[in-house]
Amino acid sequence: MNCPRDWPEPIIRVQSLSESGIDTIPERYVKPPQARPSSAATTSSVPNIPLIDLGGIYDDNLRESTLKHISDACREGGFFQIVNHGVPPELMDRAREVWREFFHQPMEVKQAYANSPTTYEGYGSRLGVEKGAILDWSDYYFLHYLPCNLRDFNKWPALPNALREVITEYSEQVVRLGGVLLKVMSINLGLSEDYLQNAFGGNDVGACLRVNFYPKCPQPDLTLGLSPHSDPGGMTFLLPDTDVPGLQVRNGDGWITVKPAPHSIIVNIGDQIQVLSNATYKSVEHRVIVNSAQERVSLAYFYNPKSDLLIQPAKELVTPDRPALYPAMTFDEYRLYIRTKGPKGKSQLGES
Ligand code: OGA
Ligand code: NI
Repeated sequence: MNCPRDWPEPIIRVQSLSESGIDTIPERYVKPPQARPSSAATTSSVPNIPLIDLGGIYDDNLRESTLKHISDACREGGFFQIVNHGVPPELMDRAREVWREFFHQPMEVKQAYANSPTTYEGYGSRLGVEKGAILDWSDYYFLHYLPCNLRDFNKWPALPNALREVITEYSEQVVRLGGVLLKVMSINLGLSEDYLQNAFGGNDVGACLRVNFYPKCPQPDLTLGLSPHSDPGGMTFLLPDTDVPGLQVRNGDGWITVKPAPHSIIVNIGDQIQVLSNATYKSVEHRVIVNSAQERVSLAYFYNPKSDLLIQPAKELVTPDRPALYPAMTFDEYRLYIRTKGPKGKSQLGES
């Protein structure tokens, strides 16, 4: 299976549609009734995802309870938000704001970075290459930070001026956090503390950023900003928009609407950690709803295994009672699925 070199249909920027002042959205953004935001059983009885003070892992009195809290979140909901994570709050705000500025530049400036399905790098407006697919109400920008040989500043926006520097600084922080959490998860899984980091390729991990731009939508009840999906990579660090909710996380038949604490970072387990943990940890489905009053900007940083390593359940977590649930596969092979089919729930893990 190979990705085609180009999109199957001409690309329309959702932001341009939104700014054109239409009051009816085009047919190709209208979801079938059962997939709309307010279809039956949308609210969960769980009010929010867990909030964890990550500083607790460095405090002798709190370490154990903090590890337990993280362990429970990884096993159950697959999502949690962290505070006291060490990323400076001003840096978080600047990272979001430089991207907001990017999206508010004239279209010609952005079009210079228009992406294609071969690498997805650059300015994009769809995921997947199925002709005639129903599309999501969002534009995005995708770039690589690690491995170093994929970091190409020419593929990062040159404007606004501060963007490359601010995003480099933010990226360093995310990679540091990735290392911390892989260690915590290894310990919690009863593995050696560097097990997951080694399984991810040691210093050769991947880190790539998708910045999501969700324009205002005149008919938010008919569409989604991002369709239900699980993240294909290792784990994701999401910098949400502080003022505008939108992210919803699967909980049974319903959805939890995430209410982020100020300057928190949302962490979620991706498919590769579900595989390595032999499904002890869950990569949970999530989606984004939009609204008619405010645009929303989020930074989803994907922390991934080196793309050509075989990923398979840790042998310590495979027992006669719990055989290996997944075959060995490289992340390169794995992500072709979402890159061709687009977001399709958790079907890539064989779950419906
Ligand atoms: C993603 C994602 C959520 C959001 O980019 O994979 O799930 O809130 N984003 O934008
Ligand atoms: Ni996601």
